[in-house]
Amino acid sequence: MTPAGERQLIVVDSAAELAHTAAGRLLARMAANPDRIAICLTGGSSPKQLYQLLATEAYRDKIPWQRLHWFIGDERFVPVDDALNNMATARAIFLDRNAPPANIHPIPTATENPDESARAYERALQAFYGADRLDPSKPLFDLVLMGAGPDGHTASLFPGYPAIEETARWVVGVPQATVAPFVPRVTLTLPALASCREMLFEIAGSEKRPILTRLLDGENLPAVRARSNGKTVWLVDEAALPEDFRGER
Ligand code: 6PG
Repeated sequence: MTPAGERQLIVVDSAAELAHTAAGRLLARMAANPDRIAICLTGGSSPKQLYQLLATEAYRDKIPWQRLHWFIGDERFVPVDDALNNMATARAIFLDRNAPPANIHPIPTATENPDESARAYERALQAFYGADRLDPSKPLFDLVLMGAGPDGHTASLFPGYPAIEETARWVVGVPQATVAPFVPRVTLTLPALASCREMLFEIAGSEKRPILTRLLDGENLPAVRARSNGKTVWLVDEAALPEDFRGER
């Protein structure tokens, strides 16, 4: 694996501006790739404003829907139409009305257990990629969207869990979550998430300030260890930014 690339901190005024900035970065990645594009979405509440924006005319009409494929970085092990399902949220907000169904790639959860689900998604990703080994010169995703939880987890990579140390598998099952919702998870691993041109974290709101303080201090937490082999961007709003980092922009 190539060493992790550059990491950039971008500070914006508000959550609304953060969603616009994220949408602009997505469009830029799409414009930079004239072929098949792959975006890896995320769950939780952080990306919802961005998803809403992508459904508006201003953005919708600029998105090359036919050659764009949508994946998800982690999933709650609940039925695909459950309100807790991450891809169900993205589908309801913007995907189902715009993306060709064959271009939406949810993590299958109608399986016996999370491990089986992980194996099935790994096979799907490898079939899409055309190989079962990641080639550093050929990123799996154009852009990977991420969030950070209050304990420093990202995707469903929780601090101290074995999934964070995985170096070979692309997707693994996680029997238990350390934060709500307390359902088993399925998550892409660090090497699979790293295989992208850009990894974009969205971190907003004053409730994120304690964990952002720890992340910016470089604590050894999953959200710090998750890095793109290309570019990593932390998109942060003023409310989440610790005092010490004010004036960073
Ligand atoms: C999930 C996520 C998770 C999320 C963080 C941040 O399934 O919950 O994918 O990793 O990104 O927990 O969540 P919030 O955006 O809700 O703060």
